[in-house]
Amino acid sequence: MSESMYRRIGGKDAVEDVVDDLYDRVLADDRLVEFFEGMEMERLRAHQIQFISSVAGGPVEYTGDNMHETHAHLDIDEAEFDAVGVHLERALRENGVGDDDIERIMDEVVALKDPIVGRL
Ligand code: HEM
Repeated sequence: MSESMYRRIGGKDAVEDVVDDLYDRVLADDRLVEFFEGMEMERLRAHQIQFISSVAGGPVEYTGDNMHETHAHLDIDEAEFDAVGVHLERALRENGVGDDDIERIMDEVVALKDPIVGRL
């Protein structure tokens, strides 16, 4: 993925807005909020910004933990994964990311479904 996509969607500020919006949506969702109780939201937010930036081809390295290991103990099912995916897609759209770029980002995110729901 080229660095132009990161620039096109608005760089650091845009990704931060998307991630804020994503967690607002997730924490307002009764199906999901319990997963995040007691979590260090600032660390999670910072890693999520790095993660989305690197997926978007930005000059940002993801320094968090492996996606499977991070989520394995949470026992997330497919419906819960899909619910977060829908919130992410809406957050991208609401923050002005274009359809083609949303599709590219979501392709990368969907590839994480198996590791995150515990199917390796
Ligand atoms: C849709 C794709 C997803 C992506 C890209 C993603 C990304 C991340 C990232 C980057 C972290 C931080 C890892 C670290 O700090 O080292 C994280 C942690 C976490 N994620 Fe996800 N995640 C996804 C799906 C989900 C889902 C579906 C849930 C729950 C329903 C979830 C719940 C959590 C929780 C609770 C943590 C904190 C774990 C801890 O600190 O022990 N994530 N995720």
